Amino acid sequence: MDRARQYLELKAEIDAVVSGETYVPARYASAACLLSEAFSPRFFWTGFYIVDPLKPRELVVGPYQGTLGCLRIPFGKGVCGACAEQEASLIVPDVHAFPGHIACDSRTNSEIVVPVFDAAGTLAAILDVDSEQADAFDEVDRSGLEAICSGLLTA
Ligand code: SME
Repeated sequence: MDRARQYLELKAEIDAVVSGETYVPARYASAACLLSEAFSPRFFWTGFYIVDPLKPRELVVGPYQGTLGCLRIPFGKGVCGACAEQEASLIVPDVHAFPGHIACDSRTNSEIVVPVFDAAGTLAAILDVDSEQADAFDEVDRSGLEAICSGLLTA
């Protein structure tokens, strides 16, 4: 099956699993699990950094699959922080060339980050996917993950 189709099926599965669930961390945990399972081992670390409601310019780690992640990332710092500031997805083919990259695990070589918005359109979290492979992510990943994130808090 091609990856675009795999993403479509995965989105339908994630939407069905989280539909009606009011506890937001359960939604993030289910999406992290299903994405990680679907694309392992290319997806080495798959999870969410949540906008801290008490510190609005800081991300705090949420549900994830993978090795130990950094707990907090300020807006503007590293790849997740840049995504939070720009409210836009970023594909980073070589994290070692990205200014301020935060190396939670030195095995990470590339990553993709996608913003998650709540029903009011406010930034709620960042989906962060890291890979041990260099240049592991492309436009198929971007559009697939954006589609999944766009329905994650509203399905
Ligand atoms: N890669 C991220 C840090 C988080 S972890 O790698 C889990 C970044 O630079 O934003």
